[in-house]
Amino acid sequence: MIDVVLGLQWGDEGKGKIVDVLTPQYDVVARFQGGPNAGHSLEFNGQKHVLNTIPSGIFHEHCTNIIGNGVVIDPVTLKKEIEKVASSGGNPTKNLFISQKAHLILPTHRLVDAASEANKGEHKIGSTLRGISPTYQDKIGRSGLRIGDILAPNFRQKYNAVVANHKQLLDRFNFEYNLEELEPAFFEAVEFLKQFPIISSEYMINDLMSKGKKIIGEGAQGTLLDIDFGSYPFVTSSNTITGGVCNGLGVAPQKVNKVYGIFKAYCTRVGSGPFPTEQENETGEKLRKLGFEFGATTGRPRRTGWLDLPTLKYAIMLNGVTDLICTKSDVLSGFEEVLVCDQYQIEDKLTNEIPFNIADAVINPQYKSFKGWSEDLTGIRQYNDLPETFKQYMNYVQASIDTKLSMISIGPDREQTIFM
Ligand code: GDP
Ligand code: IMO
Ligand code: MG
Repeated sequence: MIDVVLGLQWGDEGKGKIVDVLTPQYDVVARFQGGPNAGHSLEFNGQKHVLNTIPSGIFHEHCTNIIGNGVVIDPVTLKKEIEKVASSGGNPTKNLFISQKAHLILPTHRLVDAASEANKGEHKIGSTLRGISPTYQDKIGRSGLRIGDILAPNFRQKYNAVVANHKQLLDRFNFEYNLEELEPAFFEAVEFLKQFPIISSEYMINDLMSKGKKIIGEGAQGTLLDIDFGSYPFVTSSNTITGGVCNGLGVAPQKVNKVYGIFKAYCTRVGSGPFPTEQENETGEKLRKLGFEFGATTGRPRRTGWLDLPTLKYAIMLNGVTDLICTKSDVLSGFEEVLVCDQYQIEDKLTNEIPFNIADAVINPQYKSFKGWSEDLTGIRQYNDLPETFKQYMNYVQASIDTKLSMISIGPDREQTIFM
């Protein structure tokens, strides 16, 4: 069986931390989608680590880490990441496996991403510019290159054929670039990756499951960035929901067991797109400052706002969440009142349903107000020791979404976790 850990909002819910906390109970962690647009932070022994493509089990010696077929890989960033992990206590040489079917992000994919975003002007998606969308476009368009291709004797030829298409695109965008500057690092990184096991990860994972090994499928981004169910077109280019585990790793739906859904006690979003409960005011500024809401990958300030129950309910429905996890509630300490949006008003109707045209709809969030708490939560380890006002807030959230919390995170460190 495989359990899934994923985000229920717009990413950055704390997936890296939670996977790291759960890993002692598991044998394998596998990423199933996304690529280096992700930035997953984990913290222990006073040190923070940020992972982009490597699964978040890598700092546990016993854990096998697999980059699945659904992931897109930039050899240059992956090489840097492997070197960083190796120098900070992880053992990627022993514990990292790469699917031969994972698609390759080429330097020109990054250039096309930049050109396309520049071309969109004020309508840009706010992409991380890591080449994610062009790479998935080539995958779906059946013209991409996969990690397994780097072992082919004619890899360079295959590379040139794909790049020729990209050059035409870049010319159409009138985009200036210098590919010769980028290629040496790319080919060096491609050579570097050949020392890692490049495997049929679907066989490996199914074999491990049949031997009774416990596996986590680690999601990237969040449900509201899903290509089908997110706030299209302001989304990423993969299926971030539980269903993505089946395609992204090659496991059958009936093998999926628990689904851990993570949400922040408030909301954040990086990049463009609708955000009904956004607070572009002092409250939002305070959330950003106290929550240190700056992108782990790009450093961009994250947009901030109150918890949004209609989208949370939607995410729980889409993912079949069995275990709910709330992170960053410690950030709300010191707010006199804490607001939760429990319905949308659209024109003169109250609704819990996310509208098709969410990017254009005028949504008036209906808030419920809760008394805040002033206590610092970061040292608390038992649910009973949490302030009553916090519990009232959380009880309301659990009742509204009809799902029980199984964990509360009250700080970035491994230890700062309350198990219910
Ligand atoms: P991910 O992409 O879902 O893995 O999340 P990120 O790592 O991008 O962003 C989450 C940020 O919040 C990181 O800086 C974490 O170290 C931090 N973090 C995680 N859980 C908590 C928590 O419960 N409280 C606080 N204050 N910070 C947290
Ligand atoms: P983790 O895994 C937050 C956002 C980008 C942009 C949109 C499309 O750390 O939660 P892309 O580069 O995928 O084409 O960008 O998606 N985005 C993320 N936002 N966390 C992430 O990953 C994200 N990955 C992509 O900001 O709005
Ligand atoms: Mg992140």
